[in-house]
Amino acid sequence: MARITINPDRSIGRINRNIYGHFSEHLGRCIYNGIFVGKDSPIPNVNGMRTDVVEALRKIKIPVLRWPGGCFADEYHWQDGIGPQEMRKRMVNTNWGYVVEDNSFGTHEFLELCRQLGCEPYINANVGSGTVREMAEWVEYLNSEGDSTVVRTRWENGKKEPFGVKYWGVGNESWGCGGNMRPEYYADEFRRYQTYCRNYGNHHLFRIACGPNTDDYRWTEILMQQAGRFMDGLTMHYYTTTGPDWETKGQALTFTEQEYYELLNKAARMETLVAGHSRIMDRYDPTKRIGLIVDEWGTWHQVEAGTNPGFLYQQNTMRDAMVAAIHLNIFNWHCDRVVMANIAQTVNVLQSVILTEGSRMVLTPTYHVFDLFKEHQDAEEIDCYVETNLIGFENWTVNQITASASQKDGKVTLTLANTSMHKAENVTVVCPNTGKVTARILTGAPSAHNDFDKAPVSIRAYDKLTVKDSEITFRAPGCSVLAISIE
Ligand code: AHR
Repeated sequence: MARITINPDRSIGRINRNIYGHFSEHLGRCIYNGIFVGKDSPIPNVNGMRTDVVEALRKIKIPVLRWPGGCFADEYHWQDGIGPQEMRKRMVNTNWGYVVEDNSFGTHEFLELCRQLGCEPYINANVGSGTVREMAEWVEYLNSEGDSTVVRTRWENGKKEPFGVKYWGVGNESWGCGGNMRPEYYADEFRRYQTYCRNYGNHHLFRIACGPNTDDYRWTEILMQQAGRFMDGLTMHYYTTTGPDWETKGQALTFTEQEYYELLNKAARMETLVAGHSRIMDRYDPTKRIGLIVDEWGTWHQVEAGTNPGFLYQQNTMRDAMVAAIHLNIFNWHCDRVVMANIAQTVNVLQSVILTEGSRMVLTPTYHVFDLFKEHQDAEEIDCYVETNLIGFENWTVNQITASASQKDGKVTLTLANTSMHKAENVTVVCPNTGKVTARILTGAPSAHNDFDKAPVSIRAYDKLTVKDSEITFRAPGCSVLAISIE
């Protein structure tokens, strides 16, 4: 039996909608085929963007999209991706499968995609193999109204008004694929690069520094100490995987009970990481001016058999849905510091919300979790105290019930997951003013997933709740995610 006590009078602040953000890299079939098929494709599209994918992402209210990488960002030269598509420079994508990148999806295409999605663009620019001038001119190209040669080129490419891009990443994983830098060195590089990324007119940049990998607290300490005053955001990356090491990762569709709980236990580690990095940030930034941006998170399994290992294509089950629910609840709890998070990656790569095959598209269980959680966007986080058991396999344990709550326009939204592989749990929610209560549920066997021929996992209405005075009681099936709305 679990008990959740909601106190709508206590809040740590607003849940930034960007916590529900996404990440799309030039990697495998994420951008090409997954999102962008080109104007001449027989697959229905608007200006080259797949209509089915755009509509699905609009439905979950995608708030922000990070691009072009990832590791790819530090080899990407933006001038190669503007002008007539057939004239664009070709390159080999050395990070991801050594395939030819023809640069047909570039700056204008990305911003067209964001326009169609109705989301904010977040551009991650090149420090590793780029130059200060190259980065400075990209900002000028995007945001300036001045009559310069760079801006005239934008006009020639059909865009008179500035794009007004706000979220600006200065390098990606600069401790690894972005240049193997030491934090002291990167801190100086960040200070230098960001100096020349100007604010044009009303277009003020939100400058994002490359933050730590997982639990590299020293990186955070040095960045905050030496460059904190120049940044608005600091990133953090953490992927959830199973197995003793990176090479022997488990699979997406086939897993043991141990691997199920191992993955969930490791997903819950995000709490420790966010709290740990936040504590360091608090020392240098007690007013929380600088946001923590978890701009890469999600599960990383073995690629599906027969697919290009460099394309990171994996299926997605209810187990991944549990991981998503665990993460999103954690980000809500820390919304006073976490201002953005970007699941890796939107389509056909790692923990995708959408998979495509030719003209066909399927929504993954993770997609449905984003659908269940979307009411939290821009709502006030509210106190949600959970009394629950630890469950698991040997040392791989996790809280059986994980939950977070928010309120907006007089409506409380509670999202919760029963992380047990099979065991249902009786839940009592105590919340003042329970008027109209409705619920939606996503549930299935831990390995249940959607495929192109069969898509059994979807959200259903859930009416098996009893409401009495200020108490709501129900039975949450094992391996389930619920969104409860209390008006
Ligand atoms: O998301 C895949 C890769 O993981 C990204 O390119 C990189 O930033 C990270 O290591």
